[in-house]
Amino acid sequence: MKTIIVYSSQTGFTERYAKWLSEELSADAITLAEAKKQSDQYFEDADAIIYGGWAMGGKVVNSEWFTQRIPQWKGKKLALFCVGGSPNENPEVETALYNALTEEERAYAKAFYCQGGISYEKMKLPSRLAMKAFASMVRKKKDATEQDKMMGEMLSHSYDISDRKFITPIATYVKN
Ligand SMILES: Cc1cc2nc3c(=O)[nH]c(=O)nc-3n(C[C@H](O)[C@H](O)[C@H](O)COP(=O)(O)O)c2cc1C
Repeated sequence: MKTIIVYSSQTGFTERYAKWLSEELSADAITLAEAKKQSDQYFEDADAIIYGGWAMGGKVVNSEWFTQRIPQWKGKKLALFCVGGSPNENPEVETALYNALTEEERAYAKAFYCQGGISYEKMKLPSRLAMKAFASMVRKKKDATEQDKMMGEMLSHSYDISDRKFITPIATYVKN
């Protein structure tokens, strides 16, 4: 079975999950930039294609590259994974996953979430500024919920909540 994993990663968390999945599934893991240089035939020859992107404002970065191709890849096993700074139990994770694929796309592909983290050190400047502004907004929010308070505290520094165990549902889905 030939499996290809394509990923977009700014600070390394999505890349880490792509590498873990490539070990688990004996799959190629390539960046989106590399994928764009490949022929259509390279993807045609695959039995399974997985796209992984980091979460930005509730969306999966560059996921349209994958979703636009779903119609031509209908016969393959297709999965999308999103890596974000939110812990799994954050209700926004479910919403983001739901919005990652349309009703029609869901018939052919499945979306997953993997906890990543925040690395202010590796973020590009615009991302760092956006994240700091978001963190400050969450901390100052009136009527902040427990979830907001926790997120505000978490976002005040870099953290890593990634874990290899989060690839299990994706690997199981792709193998079966
Ligand atoms: C501008 C910006 C917006 C973000 N929005 C979200 C978000 O909506 N949900 C989330 O869980 N994480 C969000 N994050 C956090 C990243 O998704 C997280 O750091 C992720 O692990 C980065 O993956 P990477 O290391 O592969 O780039 C955001 C980060 C930045 C810089």
